[in-house]
Amino acid sequence: KTIYVLNGPNLNLLGKRQPEIYGRETLEDVEKLCRDTAGTGYDIRLLQSNHEGQIVDWIHEAREKAAGIVINPAALTHTSVAVLDALHAFEGPVIEVHISQVHKREAFRHHSYVSLRADGVIAGLGIEGYAAATRRIVQLTQG
Ligand code: DQA
Repeated sequence: KTIYVLNGPNLNLLGKRQPEIYGRETLEDVEKLCRDTAGTGYDIRLLQSNHEGQIVDWIHEAREKAAGIVINPAALTHTSVAVLDALHAFEGPVIEVHISQVHKREAFRHHSYVSLRADGVIAGLGIEGYAAATRRIVQLTQG
């Protein structure tokens, strides 16, 4: 089985971008963490794009290829009906992750379109949130 771990705009800079908010670990560290957490029996496909349409296309691809999706939509969380609609077309479990505690931040980060579809939402655990999300997808899809 495969778990898609999708990452939205600016997360390519994870580790360098506002480290006081997002930490010093990189997307490579996230990938390793997800692999180690999922264990054997699951493949991790970690993807990042700065482009909304690319994220939508990967969610469509996941319809055929993924047992579940872990998604940090980044800024698209707060803006994208297109990402929400794509996730509505995916049948497996979806867990939404935010590295930072978005509810402690600006009001515009408090609303998430993606949460209308997500089966779980994690915020403020740093990159550990991706491990928790991966563990949950495994739990919901094994057997
Ligand atoms: C984020 C929070 C979003 O508000 C922000 O736009 C991001 C990252 C997080 O992981 O904390 O780019 O999704």
